[in-house]
Amino acid sequence: MPLNIEFIRLRCGRNEIHYFQSVGSTMTEAQWLAETGAPHGTVVLADEQTAGIGRLGRSWISDAEAGIYCSVLLDLALQAEDIPIASLLVGLATAEAIEKSTQLACDLRWPNDVLIQERKTAGILTQLLDSRIVAGIGINVNQTSFPPNLRTPATSLRIESNGRVQAREEIVIRLLEAIDTFSHVLASGGTGAILRAFTAASRYAIHRRVVVEENGCNGTTAGLDRHGFLLLRTDDGHVQRIASGGIRPA
Ligand code: BTN
Repeated sequence: MPLNIEFIRLRCGRNEIHYFQSVGSTMTEAQWLAETGAPHGTVVLADEQTAGIGRLGRSWISDAEAGIYCSVLLDLALQAEDIPIASLLVGLATAEAIEKSTQLACDLRWPNDVLIQERKTAGILTQLLDSRIVAGIGINVNQTSFPPNLRTPATSLRIESNGRVQAREEIVIRLLEAIDTFSHVLASGGTGAILRAFTAASRYAIHRRVVVEENGCNGTTAGLDRHGFLLLRTDDGHVQRIASGGIRPA
């Protein structure tokens, strides 16, 4: 069934919501809206993406009516060096929305994977447009299977809840609420409040043996620096700042 977009609009009166039954990528539409002066909180939602974009030039599988494909325009007043905080903020919001709607416990893997039982159930992509941020959120909701050769093992909320079909509208509504809540946390508590929340919510942030995907470097995570980059204590005792790419369990 397509999203009940009128129900979502009714519940999310503060967001200007643009809906597509099928679109190339919600990111492209949101960028265009940003360029034409759309306000903070503008949302692009689609039931299907034919060219969904993932991080690091990868694609994002976006089967019709199975997942949530959403981009949100954010004016967070972050300094340029603190832009990684935006991605952490949206990750926190996504995990909260999933947990509140499904009661499934989520983990966050820096910079922006949302995991359930070590499998990826949502991903976040942030793009900077002048001083504005376009945050793309993809959540695997009602998929029943995934291709076997994915780089990161994937799961869906349906798979993790023993086959229970999940209402995508409920999750979208909670996601937009949670983005709003964490944007206020940032505005009132500063970047430190988001860094603390992420560190508390992520079992990957500290004392976790990982491999850096980009260079194969092994080490133990040592928290986040003040701009939201991951710190890694390598096996020779040096602390390295991981600025891009991702990590996986060692
Ligand atoms: C990742 O690689 O983990 C990030 C995936 C982000 C996917 C979402 S789906 C909605 C938005 N539109 C896109 O084309 N990509 C993002």
